[in-house]
Amino acid sequence: MKALEGVKVLDFTHVQSGPTCTQLLAWFGADVIKVERPGTGDITRSQLCDVPDADSLYFTMLNHNKRSITLDTKNPKGMEVLWEMVKICDVLVENFAPGVLDRMGLTWDKIHAVNPRLIVASVKGFGPGPYEDCKVYENVAQCAGGSASTTGFRDGLPMVTGAQIGDSGTGLHLALGIVTALYHRTHSGLGQKVDCAMQDGVLNLCRVKLRDQQRLERGPMKEYSQYGEGIPFDDAVPRAGNDSGGGQPGRIVKCKGWETDPNAYLYFITQAPVWEKICDIIGEPGWKTDPNYAKPLARLPRLNEIFARVEQWTMTKTKFEAMDILNEYDIPCGPILSMKEIAEEKSLRETGTVVEVDHPVRGKYLSVGNPIKLSDSPTVVTRSPLLGEHTDEILRDVLKFDERRIAAVTESGATGALTRAAAE
Ligand code: COA
Repeated sequence: MKALEGVKVLDFTHVQSGPTCTQLLAWFGADVIKVERPGTGDITRSQLCDVPDADSLYFTMLNHNKRSITLDTKNPKGMEVLWEMVKICDVLVENFAPGVLDRMGLTWDKIHAVNPRLIVASVKGFGPGPYEDCKVYENVAQCAGGSASTTGFRDGLPMVTGAQIGDSGTGLHLALGIVTALYHRTHSGLGQKVDCAMQDGVLNLCRVKLRDQQRLERGPMKEYSQYGEGIPFDDAVPRAGNDSGGGQPGRIVKCKGWETDPNAYLYFITQAPVWEKICDIIGEPGWKTDPNYAKPLARLPRLNEIFARVEQWTMTKTKFEAMDILNEYDIPCGPILSMKEIAEEKSLRETGTVVEVDHPVRGKYLSVGNPIKLSDSPTVVTRSPLLGEHTDEILRDVLKFDERRIAAVTESGATGALTRAAAE
């Protein structure tokens, strides 16, 4: 039995943040029923398309293991069906713009009265406050959550990061809130609201930067490169380039081939317990006893010089050769892996972190599998549903509608014209 088997999720999500959350629930065994607008469905189905007439990778990679029903919620019959789903589901997940759910008549009070056990989970851009009514996408959340102001180089623009910490990050937070509420329901018998604001999710992931904001009030932060460069700190946490955020100074250094390969780099950490081994490897044995280098505090003003010396050594090795040598001595480091290298990495395929999925329209493609591994509930990734693929099945088997009722829904136009799946 899968960990979340028996849990029914009314998946009213779109784009990235909500779908990430419901995909995780599906991977853990929940029956996730995605409700989509007839004709178009989740807008990502047709965004960033690479294969004509096939659902995009944007959509397929965020909606595995789900079922899809098309329902026009602006059609009264569509709303009637939706309310039937509210009655029998355990969780409703949505990430519409603020106010959309209320405009549909799906207010918490009404939902709770109809199904007191239903958990209603929402992603919004902001929590209550001046921006609560705003629509938000990934990069807005990165900017408002403190990530952009602390990412990049001190003398450059604020930067957004490739990791989707606003969308996928908040989806992860929401999934934790949902399973916590499900657990609480086993005691209380009642559902509750679970709210995650993207700004809050990003800030949670930027916790160390709020730590630094307060450290800054007590003096310069000596592990930031600018300290060694003699550049005074302002009153807000600066961008730290590739300086390590922890107490063990680290940098990205060039490796052999950097002139032509944009990813021929290594992250190198000068962890204190292995300092002597580092000195031997980079050919500076004198630094083991020299009072300017021997102790961590003495090294902090000299990080630029130290990493320049480290880089002289790493430039004589490929990133993988350097990894092998440094790991022999327990020196923490990591190669900068390109997406191509990750896609081809055998060990990631073996653990199911990168999976190949077959899709009836687009054919085979790679996806990221479930990064959370449960020993008794392994994830089997199955393809995303075609638009409305399971409409009839859900009306009949889940909602237990008889033929007459299904015909009435179909004739009302609430499920849209013939779906692609039905047409084939
Ligand atoms: N049938 C008919 N209408 C439907 C429908 C269906 N099945 N599903 C949704 N709709 C309608 C809604 O009723 C709403 O209409 P209304 O504004 O007339 O009430 C409309 O579609 C869409 O809602 P909205 O959420 O505003 O979509 P959008 O494309 O304009 O905005 C976001 C997209 C992501 C900016 C917005 O949803 C948002 O801010 N979400 C919260 C934060 C978030 O998750 N952002 C990250 C996304 S990755």
